[in-house]
Amino acid sequence: MKNVRLGIIGTGSMGAGHATYLKENKINNCVLSAICDVVKPTNEIFNNIKYYNDYKELILSGDVDAVLIATPHYAHTEIGVFALENNIHTLVEKPISVHKNDCLKLINAHKNKDVIFAAMFNQRTKPEFIKIKELISTLGNLQRVNYIITDWYRTEAYYKSGTWRATWGGEGGGILLNQCPHQLDILQWLVGMPTSILATCDFGKFHNIEVEDEVSAIMTFKNGASGIFTANTGEYPGTNRLEIIGDLGKLVYEDNKLTLSRNCVSATEFSKTTKEAWSTPTCETIKIEMPKQEFLNQHATITQNFVNAILFNEDLIAKSEEGINSVELANSMILSEIKKEKISLPINGDEYEEALNQLKDKEI
Ligand SMILES: NC(=O)c1ccc[n+]([C@@H]2O[C@H](COP(=O)([O-])OP(=O)(O)OC[C@H]3O[C@@H](n4cnc5c(N)ncnc54)[C@H](O)[C@@H]3O)[C@@H](O)[C@H]2O)c1
Repeated sequence: MKNVRLGIIGTGSMGAGHATYLKENKINNCVLSAICDVVKPTNEIFNNIKYYNDYKELILSGDVDAVLIATPHYAHTEIGVFALENNIHTLVEKPISVHKNDCLKLINAHKNKDVIFAAMFNQRTKPEFIKIKELISTLGNLQRVNYIITDWYRTEAYYKSGTWRATWGGEGGGILLNQCPHQLDILQWLVGMPTSILATCDFGKFHNIEVEDEVSAIMTFKNGASGIFTANTGEYPGTNRLEIIGDLGKLVYEDNKLTLSRNCVSATEFSKTTKEAWSTPTCETIKIEMPKQEFLNQHATITQNFVNAILFNEDLIAKSEEGINSVELANSMILSEIKKEKISLPINGDEYEEALNQLKDKEI
């Protein structure tokens, strides 16, 4: 195969974003050969691209080697399963599915490992997060992680811009399923999965919506480290700050800036061995300069990597299988709110699906 013929399924705002860099020929060895949407797009970016209104027809058409699924969340599972079962390389937008059981359905459909299956976790390409991943082992034993992600401000008009948005039946959740899959993915990518979560989720706190628009979660990790995750779409100006602390130092990412503090000795060892009551380890702090990155370049980087994986066996930046983790984190936070208790991970997918069905059925 010389060029990958890619079809975009879902031609709304993100589908159009993907089409923009594809039509600007920013992806080597890839052509946008077809699109599919249940509503024919009027956006001129899609002019002169073969259109299908049924994803099955597009997948079986012979016009595409690969698809990029950019539909509302629930449809990711059925479209992804159909694409994978028909040996079509598949790149799925975040979240890979709405709940754990659907993630497993999708992942289990990936039987033919010659078929490439990736997820659009574009934030993994941010230079600052790549640097943190490189440096994290130098922090020693993880003690604490704190992610404050409250700069996802959204208006009532945004929530009204699509009937699927901010509904249990259409979107399957709020900030945890739409905006925060990125941060939940980065969190698990950097520090792994917690073993328990205690969370509160406020449904429609800032907006006239049925799903959560504020979340506060406390996490515990296997080695005893603690974590805090705070997110909302109602405050402005918000904060986007990730702190990771180990006994050998600290990494802080805020306002697109990265700072590393290094202790000359482990804080734990120092505490045990020093004779001084008020002493602290010597610590040096440095600012790490990182190159600036355009927003759509993140997405283009993931798509190029997907194409290179198909053509040249390049390792994937974000395997779709890993997308179950951010969904499980989101599901466990919502389950903790519903049950008003601490949730142990891994969660029971059936229990969460049942709870989600009850939320869907509830009259608002
Ligand atoms: N990676 C990112 O940075 C990023 C940013 C925004 C959105 N997203 C994700 O992209 C996806 C789409 O979000 P959006 O904001 O573009 O939504 P949108 O509502 O603007 O577009 C969704 C499109 O999918 C179409 N659609 C619905 N069901 C379909 C089906 N069965 N077959 C074909 N088309 C169908 C709709 O008609 C609509 O045109 C979501 O998963 C969202 O979370 C990712």
